[in-house]
Amino acid sequence: MADTRKIPFTILRFNPETDTKHRFDTFIVDVLPGMTVLEGLHQIKARHDATLAWRYSCRMGVCGSCGMLINGRATLACNTQILDVSPIAIAIAPLPNFPIIKDLVPDLDSMFQKHREIKPWIIRENSIEQNTAKGEFYQSPEQLVEYLQFSYCIKCGCCMAACPTMATDAQYLGPQPLAQAYRYEADSRDQGFNARKPVLDRDSGLFSCHYGSECSVVCPKGVDPAKAIQLMKRRMLLDLFHLYRKKNAELCPDQGKPSAQDGS
Ligand code: SF4
Ligand code: SF4
Ligand code: FES
Repeated sequence: MADTRKIPFTILRFNPETDTKHRFDTFIVDVLPGMTVLEGLHQIKARHDATLAWRYSCRMGVCGSCGMLINGRATLACNTQILDVSPIAIAIAPLPNFPIIKDLVPDLDSMFQKHREIKPWIIRENSIEQNTAKGEFYQSPEQLVEYLQFSYCIKCGCCMAACPTMATDAQYLGPQPLAQAYRYEADSRDQGFNARKPVLDRDSGLFSCHYGSECSVVCPKGVDPAKAIQLMKRRMLLDLFHLYRKKNAELCPDQGKPSAQDGS
């Protein structure tokens, strides 16, 4: 076909069950305008190597399954057109900062575990009210906007793969769980700040983020985890400030009151 280009795909291969080290395999893909990286992988599997492994499901940027490193950027294979990346060569590796299950399939369990730890659901102080609500908790459009963009996360792991702190500290909570902690903190129906505080405040928690923002640059859904993390830090610092003032008032009850020397 006239518009077809032959583009080499170089792919990092590794099967922990049989391989002692990684290798790179190169396959020539016939690329038509508009073809996605995911379609290129399907072509390789059909024509060259049926053992190539990757994960996908929806093919439309919704399920979060097909995150991988494409020419150095963590992104979704189904949402990335080959010619938008390069008309010359494509290099693909699994998402960094996760163990590899096989080839391009990362083990995302650590992210899901950390996500569970921050309690990603609405928490009410009154558990009876939470479990037997007598009606809806109304929310205005303005209140919805406070957390809406953070709720678009599809748990693809691209932000975790791009985060330099994750690369040096595997215990770091990471941008996906931290952004979701703020998603609930910013929700007017939620009262879970104290329930999440110990997790956020632990070593390798919220304050390990150094705000490089690479997580927000790569997010394929337009979520801004770096912003969420900074807003969550502000919330934690305000809490600390209020605790300090309360403690100070208990220890020095007269502090702040006008003195006799003020003439009052
Ligand atoms: S914040 Fe964005 S990049 Fe990170 S897991 Fe969610 S959708 Fe993926
Ligand atoms: S802003 Fe924080 S979470 Fe995002 S990439 Fe940088 S260190 Fe990681
Ligand atoms: S296959 Fe579902 S996001 Fe790519």
